[in-house]
Amino acid sequence: MEDEEGAEYGKADFVLLDQVTMEDFMENLKLRFQKGRIYTYIGEVLVSVNPYQELPLYGPEAIARYQGRELYERPPHLYAVANAAYRAMKRRARDTCIVISGESGAGKTEASKHIMQYIAAVTNPSQRAEVERVKDVLLRSTCVLEAFGNARTNRNHNSSRFGKYMDINFDFKGDPVGGHIHSYLLEKSRVLKQHVGERNFHAFYQVLRGCEDAELQDLHLQRNPALYSFTRQGAGLSASESEERSHHRAVMEAMQVIGFSAEEMGSVHRILAAILHLGNIEFVETEEGHLAVAEEVLVDHVAELTATPREQVLRCLLSRTVASGGREVIEKGHTVAEASYARDAGAKAVYQRLFEWVVNRINSVMEPRGRDARRDGKDTVIGVLDIYGFEVFPVNSFEQFCINYCNEKLQQLFIQLILKQEQEEYEREGIAWQSVSARPCALRPGGVVWARARSPPARPTSLSQVEFFNNATIVDLVERPHRGVLAVLDEACCSAGTITDRIFLQSLDTHHRHHPHYTSRQLCPTDKTMEFGRDFRIRHYAGDVTYSVLGFIDKNRDALFQDFKRLLYNSSDPTLRAMWPDGQQDITEVTKRPLTAGTLFKNSMVALVDNLASKEPFYVRCIKPNQDKAAARLDEAHCRHQVAYLGLLENVRVRRAGFASRQPYPRFLLRYKMTCEYTWPNHLLGSDREAVGALLEQHGLQGDVAFGRSKLFIRSPRTLVTLEQSRARLVPIIVLLLQKAWRGTLARWRCRRLRAAYTIMRCYRRHKVRAHLVELHQRFQAARQPPLFGRDLAWPPPPAVLQPFQDACRALFCRWRARQLVKNIPPSDMAQIKAKVAAMGALQELRPDWGCRRAWLRDYLSSAADNPAASSLFAQRLKSLRDKDGFGAVLFSSHVRKVNRFNKRRDRALLLTDRHVYKLEPGRQYRVMRAVPLDLVTGLSVTSGRDQLVVLHLKGQDDLVVCLHRSRPPLDNRVGELVGVLAGHCQGEGRPLEVRVSDCIPLSQRGARRLVSVEPRPEQPEPDFRCSRGSYTLLWPSS
Ligand SMILES: Nc1ncnc2c1ncn2[C@@H]1O[C@H](COP(=O)(O)OP(=O)(O)OP(=O)(O)O)[C@@H](O)[C@H]1O
Ligand SMILES: [Mg+2]
Repeated sequence: MEDEEGAEYGKADFVLLDQVTMEDFMENLKLRFQKGRIYTYIGEVLVSVNPYQELPLYGPEAIARYQGRELYERPPHLYAVANAAYRAMKRRARDTCIVISGESGAGKTEASKHIMQYIAAVTNPSQRAEVERVKDVLLRSTCVLEAFGNARTNRNHNSSRFGKYMDINFDFKGDPVGGHIHSYLLEKSRVLKQHVGERNFHAFYQVLRGCEDAELQDLHLQRNPALYSFTRQGAGLSASESEERSHHRAVMEAMQVIGFSAEEMGSVHRILAAILHLGNIEFVETEEGHLAVAEEVLVDHVAELTATPREQVLRCLLSRTVASGGREVIEKGHTVAEASYARDAGAKAVYQRLFEWVVNRINSVMEPRGRDARRDGKDTVIGVLDIYGFEVFPVNSFEQFCINYCNEKLQQLFIQLILKQEQEEYEREGIAWQSVSARPCALRPGGVVWARARSPPARPTSLSQVEFFNNATIVDLVERPHRGVLAVLDEACCSAGTITDRIFLQSLDTHHRHHPHYTSRQLCPTDKTMEFGRDFRIRHYAGDVTYSVLGFIDKNRDALFQDFKRLLYNSSDPTLRAMWPDGQQDITEVTKRPLTAGTLFKNSMVALVDNLASKEPFYVRCIKPNQDKAAARLDEAHCRHQVAYLGLLENVRVRRAGFASRQPYPRFLLRYKMTCEYTWPNHLLGSDREAVGALLEQHGLQGDVAFGRSKLFIRSPRTLVTLEQSRARLVPIIVLLLQKAWRGTLARWRCRRLRAAYTIMRCYRRHKVRAHLVELHQRFQAARQPPLFGRDLAWPPPPAVLQPFQDACRALFCRWRARQLVKNIPPSDMAQIKAKVAAMGALQELRPDWGCRRAWLRDYLSSAADNPAASSLFAQRLKSLRDKDGFGAVLFSSHVRKVNRFNKRRDRALLLTDRHVYKLEPGRQYRVMRAVPLDLVTGLSVTSGRDQLVVLHLKGQDDLVVCLHRSRPPLDNRVGELVGVLAGHCQGEGRPLEVRVSDCIPLSQRGARRLVSVEPRPEQPEPDFRCSRGSYTLLWPSS
């Protein structure tokens, strides 16, 4: 702060004054004001002096300078307070409120506007549409409320004639999501009459000056306010016509933005016009002694504008219905005075209801929408209170009494929050006291506040008393049940018979004869400033105010005839009708006396104070520099008075004595423990208090604090700022740490779950495997049983993991089974088995019939059964061939029918030894016709049918085409045997033999390619070949 403001601007915080005296205070205030510094702090309280001129202190740039800063980082400003309230709300999720007080014209409303502008500017960075809408309504609502609730007074050209408390709701992100306006005690008597130099509410002048001619005509109005009794007084004081028109336009625009419909805005204009016409209605007594309206056309206008029947309007103006016991109703004519009273009461009430409707309508638009506390979290609230300041007029009536009572209540709240609570807390926390001489007090002493003596500064627990005026006694004088001014007034209003204001005054005198703050001429006959039977005086905290009791009872009773309410409830204008729900009741039903205006106001004040007390308060104390609205002029006497009654000096003293902040030790540790190694993450010291001590010592801040029983008291905000800054530096690191830990935890959870899943899977798999193996074991118990050796056993489907295992097992089992089968075969059969296996390998699935079920004898020519005629001849030939060629074994022998390349078909014999293939001639003792080494046989071709065609493919020689000869049984199938014997032999020698199965067999003879196929012929007695060009056909006798 000092960086920006040099000493020539005075002290930016009154707490820094050398001496806390009125002179020093005023000198500093004046110096700063002259230098254009209208804001000064007392701790966190902002003192604001109205400059009455535009200063370059506001706008987006200024807002940017204060945004996100601590209160003490920048020169004092409303923005800083708004920012502090906003940050306090966001940081601690606590509701806060900004109480703006000061007398009329001190700048409260302007201050509240700047605060709202600041909040609107710093929120909703993401430009959410709903939040923008709420902000728009919040900002625009001020303009509309000012039109209907503000008026020019002698003190302020734009004086708020109602109290306003606005709640702004924020979501967890700190963006405004809604709001609510409470209005307090509109000064509705202003509708009827204004002091000299004052005006009615702005709305009337804006309609008269701002509406288009056509609309005015529809409203039966003329532009000149002097033509209407309610606006005549202020007619000459109007702002320029163009200014009024632009105000009117701005208000209409604002209403439109807020969401008022065109019909509603039309209704509002009609209601205002109706009030103006109502004000011009005069009553006269006719010669017959009846009451009549002087100018009946006005009744027509009122009826038209309020959309009610003319006769009923007239009846309401001239008479009233009274319930005369039971259900009987009589109509009672008014006197001229009564009719005028009823007219005025009606006009006031219509305006008040209009104002309340406008407020409610704005509230309905600002109501937070679609909020669910469970989903969105609780909304936090900033309340802004801009309420009428203390007022003293030459003649003060009921309204001033209420307004000043309101200020007493707020002062009481201020005392309780700032002064008294402070004292009580110090005592409670056991801060040691040292009573020194009392300081001069601003007003009459009413209480004491403990304050720290200035020296020695290093010992914060040395305290002295600060005296202050506790206004509780005045509040009590006004609101005490049964005896207080409001209670006595209510009693007067409720009493039967004609109780006059004078009798009410006498009653007050009796009750408060000895009250130090109450007096009247009766009680003090020598005081000629008061009049007998009319005036009483209250010594307010802000000064003495003399009230005239005239009209007190009337205003408090605030009576309005039921006829009037019913009339407007039955209007066909829905907007107007909505303002009068109580007009629904029948006169005979209206039995309960409504609460008086005074009691209603008192109740609303109690509720307001309770509401404020529940929030963290921030104060703006406004000071009006002079009575003449003059720029840059500070009237010292006038200001001195305000400084005194606002209790600012006491505020400074308490502040200097007191502490900027206090926090319970655990909460303090929770917030700052990360800034100290002894306290992070948890301390091991004896108590939280000791831990706090260690923390502060590490920061070197122990000189600026005091240790209470349960709380730490921090004197200067700078200490707090230091702690906050070091916390802010560490928070991102802690966030990372937490993120890391949390991510680790999540990963560990995931891992544990995975592990568990794997364990379950493993166990399940093991179980499945075990179950499968048990099943296999049981099933294959019977596998050893011959002769099948488990051939008919089905393999159960294995779990996926066992599939390879099962495949291997199956293979093993097959081999085992084969072994079991083979084991039982005699060695003599082995050659046959091997041949059959070889044949099966070559022919299975290619040739269905290959003679597998037969016994394969191989050497059929040596068999007497198969070759009875020539077996011995063949045996001789075999012997001679064995001697000559030295073969080891006969692989195959059979008679065949052959065809050669010369198409010659002959019967021959085929002999296969392990060395040669012989073609023999059976007719000549089996003479060898051709011998081919077995090595030259490269392949064999057979057909897929039952025929006995065989082609031996030879390397480098003509392929041999034969059909195995008839045999016993006839057509026995020997092709498979020849294939199996030859394939088995080649396998044994490790030589490849290609076996082809085809129904059209290609072959080669002397380099030429030929084909041989089979033709089944039923009539063919013996198989034989038929030759055609390039091909042979075996004619096969088929049965
Ligand atoms: N900060 C400011 N800068 C310039 N002018 C200001 C400032 N504050 C107030 N004023 C001037 O003072 C006038 C009165 O201020 P304002 O209406 O805020 O007073 P108030 O305290 O609300 O009074 P009331 O109690 O009568 O409503 C404003 O119309 C404006 O001209
Ligand atoms: Mg105001």
